[in-house]
Amino acid sequence: MRIAVRRETATGERRVALVPDVVGRLVRAGHELRVERGAGERAGHPDAAYAAAGGRVTSGAEALDGAGVVLAVRAPTVEEADLLPAGALLVGLLAPDRSRPLLARLAARGVDALALERIPRSSRAQAMDALSSQASLAGYKAVLLGAAALPRLMPMMTTAAGTLAPARVLVIGAGVAGLQAIATARRLGAVVAGFDVRPAAAEQVRSLGATFLEVPGAEATGAGGYAAELAAEAHARVIAALSARLRETDLVVTTAQVPGRPAPRLLPAAAVHAMRPGAVIVDLAAESGGNCELTRAGEAVEVDGVTVLGAVDLAATLPFHASQAYARNLEALLLHLAGPGGGRALDPADEIAGPMLVVHRGALRDP
Ligand code: NAI
Repeated sequence: MRIAVRRETATGERRVALVPDVVGRLVRAGHELRVERGAGERAGHPDAAYAAAGGRVTSGAEALDGAGVVLAVRAPTVEEADLLPAGALLVGLLAPDRSRPLLARLAARGVDALALERIPRSSRAQAMDALSSQASLAGYKAVLLGAAALPRLMPMMTTAAGTLAPARVLVIGAGVAGLQAIATARRLGAVVAGFDVRPAAAEQVRSLGATFLEVPGAEATGAGGYAAELAAEAHARVIAALSARLRETDLVVTTAQVPGRPAPRLLPAAAVHAMRPGAVIVDLAAESGGNCELTRAGEAVEVDGVTVLGAVDLAATLPFHASQAYARNLEALLLHLAGPGGGRALDPADEIAGPMLVVHRGALRDP
């Protein structure tokens, strides 16, 4: 199979779809790898490393020429999509809910597409789960950003001048990013609490050494292991409980998401105004509207001494490890897709590839 690796063009995107190690393994498995010049540079992988691994480093046009599979981190622009060869399969974080024009163009050109956002959250798909690998890194980085913005320490520190109290951290949404945020804040020595609407999350939060904020009746499990939207009355109770907790919290990392919906609004402006001066909120849900009313995606907002960081694309700020994990996800996915004889078999009925297949044989497919 001829596999092409794109050089990412989105602003701020420093990741690359395959790292040299994985290129080497795919070459040894009999695939032909073409890597667009400079693809891995911003992730710490020079062209020479891809060439040494057996990849052919070349221009974008040549990399795409005759490719059966095109690997990307982010969706190409509609114009870039016109360069993809008919019959190819594009794989990446294609943001299918926001990329209708792109998907329509791919369909018109006869390019199939797999959107990694639609990966089923099952144990069989775990090794291919780029949502998880990238969310985990984002959760880690969110705590570091918050810690750096705080005017206080994370751990307790005993000095000759007395004892300094540890920071109090609240993590809202204990999915993949949230649990990693809890683990990171704990490692830094903070006193950590977590909250989620999925009952299964409580035990996971506690197992990381954090306390779980109990809100009676605030449970909402939806399809596919995801959360559902809370009923209005339960939502109001959650806001009240979180607002009360906010008054004694130094750092909030908030990650709450409900698939296909805007992020739940959990932190009203009034609750933020009531926080202690110097408090910090890192809103990982910024891109889908934010969990905090004051969040502005990609910006830092300061009100009454409280800083609200509208975090976006945090995994892209750790391009070395984010690319390594992403590349391994793609490797596992390619292995899964490889049909008899090492080609690629795209079966819409496949339990893993099926839900991810957003464009197939000239038509758009909805979840
Ligand atoms: P996500 O990014 O969709 O949402 C983040 C978190 O926000 C979730 O834990 C969700 O329950 C929570 N949330 C939603 N509304 C909330 C509210 N009003 N208040 C507080 N929290 C709220 O979730 P993510 O991280 O993508 O995980 C989704 C699910 O998939 C989880 O159950 C996770 O454990 C599961 N999962 C399973 C995997 C596997 O079995 N292979 C791999 C990865 C995730």
